[in-house]
Amino acid sequence: METLSQDTLSTSPPDKPKLMQGGNYIAEGRDSTKSTWLLFSPGTRDKAGSLAKFLSVFSSHGVNLSHIESRSSARRPGYEFMVECEHGSGDFGAALDDLKKDTGYLTIISRNYKDNRSAVPWFPRRIRDLDKFANQILSYGSELDADHPGFTDPEYRARRKYFADIAYNYKHGQPLPHVEYTKEETATWGVVFQKLTELYPTHACKEHNHVFPLLIENCGYREDNIPQLEDVSNFLKDCTGFTLRPVAGLLSSRDFLAGLAFRVFHSTQYIRHHSRPLYTPEPDVCHELLGHAPLFADPAFAQFSQEIGLASLGAPDDYIERLATCFWFTVEFGLCRQDGQLKAYGAGLLSSFGELQYCLSSEPELKEFNPEVTGEQKYPITEYQPIYFVANSFESAKDKMIKFAQTIPRDFAVRYNPYTQSIDILDSQKQMRDLLREVHQEMNLLLNTMEKL
Ligand SMILES: [Fe+2]
Repeated sequence: METLSQDTLSTSPPDKPKLMQGGNYIAEGRDSTKSTWLLFSPGTRDKAGSLAKFLSVFSSHGVNLSHIESRSSARRPGYEFMVECEHGSGDFGAALDDLKKDTGYLTIISRNYKDNRSAVPWFPRRIRDLDKFANQILSYGSELDADHPGFTDPEYRARRKYFADIAYNYKHGQPLPHVEYTKEETATWGVVFQKLTELYPTHACKEHNHVFPLLIENCGYREDNIPQLEDVSNFLKDCTGFTLRPVAGLLSSRDFLAGLAFRVFHSTQYIRHHSRPLYTPEPDVCHELLGHAPLFADPAFAQFSQEIGLASLGAPDDYIERLATCFWFTVEFGLCRQDGQLKAYGAGLLSSFGELQYCLSSEPELKEFNPEVTGEQKYPITEYQPIYFVANSFESAKDKMIKFAQTIPRDFAVRYNPYTQSIDILDSQKQMRDLLREVHQEMNLLLNTMEKL
């Protein structure tokens, strides 16, 4: 009998950073970015040469800039500047003091925010910014723990390195790597696929069961075929705008959640070791494609997932942990009530033959999903969950997440702009007016449509 959850993480050896609570695939990672971003506007009305004036502040203090950008300010009329300062070069503090004397607003965004109390933790603003942290990972995909089923199999380890390398070299905008899976890998997928699809009609939520036949029809979901990430990603994009992005190893919670804000899901592409087809100590392609992918095609679920991501942007560390825990108890291990029956929607359940049966038995304890409580719940990562949280619907879960996000101490609100695939930071009256205008347009459209029906 399978005693470990298919969706669990192995414990790190002592010399590695300790895995953080917060769901498979998300763990505290190495933070190698040594730079601070400054976003500022000129203090007086824009005038020609103001950028040159600010740049001279940095050069006079010996601070190297690796990125300089000027653009229209969304917060006030005129321009704003965004620069990336290299850490360790020159006297950054003195440059900052000089800058403060003559700027309208100044926001400090830093990966090293712990060193600067006024800094906002760095977060991606544009979808291509995801490239900046894609390779800041806890462990490379080919590094296996001693108790991993593939640890002593050199062929498997070489294969894992191959998958890690293709993800490592991936950049936003490229087609997702096409993989020729071996016969052995396809056979492993076949075992998992056959066992799980037996359970889905009775154990999975209706959204999963609605989407699954579409994946069979459109993306090559079959017992004898491992679907390509590219096909699944294109399918999801058509349904909800979600896309998949290959990842070479474990990302930090902060980075993993930030991807969700852009409706990007970081996905593995390798498969578990063939010796134990119903067990994997880390997420693999079975977990991603059978567990996660179907739900990302559902609009309400996609919105819910994105809300967790948006809430995480620039949030303090303790809130990141709460959000990651909410992610664990929903997207990974969530249950929901449908037509008076309990069903599974979490990917860790939908990709685990053993836990999918266990979670609907009378054994585990059930609690109502409530981000404030759920976010504090401790949980094991190497065994079946003793507690599950139940959502009444994805819509209600989303509304609760939005309310919870409002309690996060941030001086700004964020909104995803799907036209530019970027994050708008809302912190000015001008932006509120623009937003109100948009809402007004939507209301007009709604009224017009209602009159026609
Ligand atoms: Fe997962």
